[in-house]
Amino acid sequence: MIEPLLDTVVSAEEAQLETSLRPRVLTDFVGQPRLKDSLGVALQAAKKRHEPLDHVLLYGPPGLGKTTLAHIISHEQGGNIHVTSGPALTRAGDLAALLTNLEEGDVLFIDEIHRLSKVVEETLYSGMEDQRLDLVLGKGPAARTVSIELKPFTLVGATTRYGALSGPLRSRFGIINKLEYYSPKDLTTVLSRSAKILKIKLDPSATDSLAQRARGTPRIANRLLRRARDTAEIRYHGHLGLEAVTETLKLLEIDALGLDASDRDLLTHIIKHHRGGPVGIETLASALSEDVGTIEEVYEPYLIQQGLLTRTKQGRVVTSLAYTHLKLSHS
Ligand SMILES: Nc1ncnc2c1ncn2[C@@H]1O[C@H](COP(=O)(O)OP(=O)(O)OP(=O)(O)O)[C@@H](O)[C@H]1O
Ligand SMILES: [Mg+2]
Repeated sequence: MIEPLLDTVVSAEEAQLETSLRPRVLTDFVGQPRLKDSLGVALQAAKKRHEPLDHVLLYGPPGLGKTTLAHIISHEQGGNIHVTSGPALTRAGDLAALLTNLEEGDVLFIDEIHRLSKVVEETLYSGMEDQRLDLVLGKGPAARTVSIELKPFTLVGATTRYGALSGPLRSRFGIINKLEYYSPKDLTTVLSRSAKILKIKLDPSATDSLAQRARGTPRIANRLLRRARDTAEIRYHGHLGLEAVTETLKLLEIDALGLDASDRDLLTHIIKHHRGGPVGIETLASALSEDVGTIEEVYEPYLIQQGLLTRTKQGRVVTSLAYTHLKLSHS
């Protein structure tokens, strides 16, 4: 079975590969010029003041480099990184254990930070703001609050769902950055870099074609590269040229805009069953057996960026570009 390209679940093998392909320093991080600039300045300024960087929130669709940046921040700061995620921190005590273990200049990376429970989130507030942890010990009349001093640290939070974050949590981040989809040119750089690390010889035309179809996403570019290498090995005597790439993309049903079957299903459904829209997100989600969050945070952003779909107050509407792209006519 082929794993779907947009799959947000990363297999153990892929996780290992991602680690090996992950840039370690900010200068090796491809693209995102505005983010890189502002983060670079903030890191330098913090270093000069001998203070840890302010807390950083990174948001944007999957596979654009949030986890990578968290590791880079930690590396640039010279401390250690402690990695956890919103759903993993079930009790305030779990968070307290992590926070009290941090050394000065360490990074605490909380992935999927929008999924923190209310109590854990509230415990985090004083840690972020005053480098202090207020914990309630015991229950009932015997309960007492203890305050624990923390070492200065940097919290890096990552989320695909900025809108799902509470206002109070958002406001406690000094640096908030959105990751944008990458241009084909930037993805060419990502691919060349990965090919070098994986010792894959890649024709320039093959690189360009992969970059065009990678949905603006480095993770997908790297996935496509591996698949194309398979095709090249099995059918083209190891030569990874344009033919091998074209065949791979055909096998994966990826079209000229980088859309896969799920993307096209979404657009086609709106056209065929709702005359192009508007259609409410819940209706769409249940018809496609997807959850609302996945549609909103994984599928839609790219379709919107490509000008194929728009969000209106009444619901989702496909554009005439979508009709042209899918070769469907207005009914
Ligand atoms: N700017 C970049 N330059 C080079 N490679 C990158 C860049 N951004 C991401 N990558 C590659 O893409 C892979 C996925 O990136 P990463 O895991 O950081 O994404 P993410 O935003 O954390 O995704 P998710 O939301 O699914 O957790 C990385 O292993 C890395 O190889
Ligand atoms: Mg990640």
